Amino acid sequence: MNLVLMGLPGAGKGTQAEKIVETYGIPHISTGDMFRAAMKEGTPLGLQAKEYIDRGDLVPDEVTIGIVRERLSKDDCQNGFLLDGFPRTVAQAEALEAMLAEIGRKLDYVIHIDVRQDVLMERLTGRRICRNCGATYHLVFHPPAQPGVCDKCGGELYQRPDDNEATVANRLEVNTKQMKPLLDFYEQKGYLRHINGEQEMEKVFSDIRELLGGLTR
Ligand code: AP5
Repeated sequence: MNLVLMGLPGAGKGTQAEKIVETYGIPHISTGDMFRAAMKEGTPLGLQAKEYIDRGDLVPDEVTIGIVRERLSKDDCQNGFLLDGFPRTVAQAEALEAMLAEIGRKLDYVIHIDVRQDVLMERLTGRRICRNCGATYHLVFHPPAQPGVCDKCGGELYQRPDDNEATVANRLEVNTKQMKPLLDFYEQKGYLRHINGEQEMEKVFSDIRELLGGLTR
C-alpha cells in the first residue's frame, strides 16, 4: 500500500494518518513531523527548516526531497508507506515518481482530503497536540476528557508555534497556491481520489477505509 495523503493545512491529514497507520500497519511519514523532530534536536536540518516553518513558508524542495528519499530507503517501507504532507509541489511530486521508479514501485492512491479554506483557520488555531505521544485534539471539535491532558497517555497538550493566526494565514496562502497544479499532476496520473474532509472525523475515516478496501482484498 503506497499512499499519499494530501490536503491544505488543517484538512485532517495527521488525524486520519493516525487511524490509517494503526489499521493497515504501514509507516507514517510526515515531513512536518520530521522537520519538528530535527528542530527539537537542534540538528542542521532543524535549524534550516525552522526559518521557513516559523514563517509558514515551504522548506526548499531539495531539502525536503532529500529527507524523504532517505526515509523511503528504510526497511520498514518495503511493504508500503503513508506519506503525509509530501509532496507539496509539482517538483516534489516529480522527484517522488522518480524515486519510486528507481525501486520498481508506484503509488496506489493519492488521497486528497478536501476542506474549504474558510474552515481551516478555526481548526488550526484550536488544535492541541500531546507532547508525549503526538495525539491530536481540538478545543471544540475533539476536546480531551480533561482540559490540557491527553486521553491516551496522560501527557501534556500544547499548541504548535506555527498555529498562531498570522502564520496560519500565510500557510494557507502558500499551500493553496501549490495545490491546484499538484492536483492536476495526480489527476493526470490517475492516482487522485477526493475525500470530503468536512464530515465527522470517523466518517472521513470510513470513506478512506472504503477506498482502501479495494487494495487489501
Ligand atoms: P505539517 O506539519 O505537514 O503541517 P500542515 O500541512 O500545515 O498540516 P497540519 O499538520 O497543520 O494539518 P493536518 O492536515 O495534519 O490537520 P490535523 O489532522 O492536525 O507541516 C508544517 C510545516 O513544515 C509546513 O508549513 C512547511 O513549512 C514544512 N513542510 C512540511 N512538509 C513540507 C513539504 N513537503 N515541503 C515543504 N515544506 C514542508 O487537524 C487539524 C485540527 O482539526 C485538529 O485540531 C483536529 O482535531 C481537527 N480536525 C481534524 N479533522 C477534523 C474534522 N473532520 N472535523 C473537525 N475537526 C477536525
